[in-house]
Amino acid sequence: MTAPRKLFIKTYGCQMNVYDSERMAEALGASGYVTTERPEEADMILLNTCHIREKASEKVFSELGRLKPLKAANPDLKIGVAGCVAQAEGAEILRRAPLVDLVVGPQTYHRLPAMEAEIRKGNRALDTDFPTEDKFDNLPKTRAKRGPTAFLTVQEGCDKFCAFCVVPYTRGAEVSRPATRLLAEARDLADRGVREITLLGQNVNAYHGAGPDGDWSLARLIRGLARIDGLARIRYTTSHPNDMTDDLIEAHGLEPKLMPYLHLPVQSGSDRILKAMNRKHTADQYLGLIDRLRAARPDLLLSGDFIVGFPGESDADFEATMDLVRAVGYGQAYSFKYSARPGTPAADRPQLSAAVLDERLQRLQALLSEQQRAAQEAMVGHEVGVLFEKPGRMPGQMVGKSDHLHAVHVAGADLQPGAIRRVRITGSASHSLAGALA
Ligand code: SAH
Ligand code: SF4
Ligand code: F3S
Repeated sequence: MTAPRKLFIKTYGCQMNVYDSERMAEALGASGYVTTERPEEADMILLNTCHIREKASEKVFSELGRLKPLKAANPDLKIGVAGCVAQAEGAEILRRAPLVDLVVGPQTYHRLPAMEAEIRKGNRALDTDFPTEDKFDNLPKTRAKRGPTAFLTVQEGCDKFCAFCVVPYTRGAEVSRPATRLLAEARDLADRGVREITLLGQNVNAYHGAGPDGDWSLARLIRGLARIDGLARIRYTTSHPNDMTDDLIEAHGLEPKLMPYLHLPVQSGSDRILKAMNRKHTADQYLGLIDRLRAARPDLLLSGDFIVGFPGESDADFEATMDLVRAVGYGQAYSFKYSARPGTPAADRPQLSAAVLDERLQRLQALLSEQQRAAQEAMVGHEVGVLFEKPGRMPGQMVGKSDHLHAVHVAGADLQPGAIRRVRITGSASHSLAGALA
């Protein structure tokens, strides 16, 4: 029997790419590959890429440069580029990077086994179609044990066309997977040891998929998933304010398995900029939503995304963003400098200077870090639920995530990964909490 071939996958970008990388590994498992953490022993290296900001895409070409010595040492090594840069610039990658054997987009990776056979013959392969068949129906099943947490993509693509964003072009139109399949996949994950599932979609709350009794919303899907024994926690990301429906807001108050954490990006606090971004809501409408969510679930911890320096953003517009952040009080957030992306409407508008972007990002990040620190410190002295995931760095220590998604470590806890316990928080460090079993 020949030894299995080894596959190394490096994942960039969002959680949907993390999910896709797992599925790609399973697809190539059918061609005899096992995954490795060590690129130098790999027979195939796949970069699963992100196109969202300029820096993210540039990383692909510099990473390909770093792979040259590995290819020189092992001429049989196959190198592939997957994900959103592959979708957007597939032909360009093959032209610019002769060491690349394979380019596969986010919607065609179920075809990897056939592509792999092709490149083994010495050919190059490119597939960035938006196929009519459902890739999820054409991926192999595995029975392998899983860790306590898993992602589950329920919806892909985006029809919103925010003026800055490449996702509608790289991921295509909004498509929801049938709820019946998702229930089956979630049951299977729970059987394999998963206790927490994070439902994923570029616009996850726009989800509407065929259920056993008609079309299901995301809230209905969450209620269906909550009935699965063994599954203890449900999260979802990323949601859009305009798809925050009444039943979903209500679910935050009614469904105990739905965790009290919500990532709800707003991008800007200025109505003028929100309009220019094509977000189709105002700052007040967003704040109204937050009020309703907090009325449903008072301990809800909020997270968001912000862009500073969008074309046309004045000092007053930026101050409106700072005001909105102060009004909400985020537990956690991501903030980015605007990055002009080819093919998006905002890329052709007059751009602000790098110095303005730097200064605004620094100020916003200082405020967000302060809020994050305050939210963590507010947990000290309180009891929270923690799902333990793995041993910590200290002997006898276990680490996991709280209901509010804070990293928590507990010393001397005789626990297995997957255990869920009440923990009293005793201290707060820069990115984690310390606690003791309650
Ligand atoms: N679907 C999600 C976001 C996907 S992209 C949503 O609609 O909220 C993740 C984040 O990247 C966005 O929320 C935005 O803050 C940021 N982003 C997207 N395009 C960007 C660009 N051109 N420049 C800077 N940040 C960007
Ligand atoms: Fe991009 Fe906007 Fe769609 Fe989010 S909603 S993926 S930011 S276009
Ligand atoms: Fe990046 Fe594609 Fe996700 S562009 S953020 S990997 S959808």
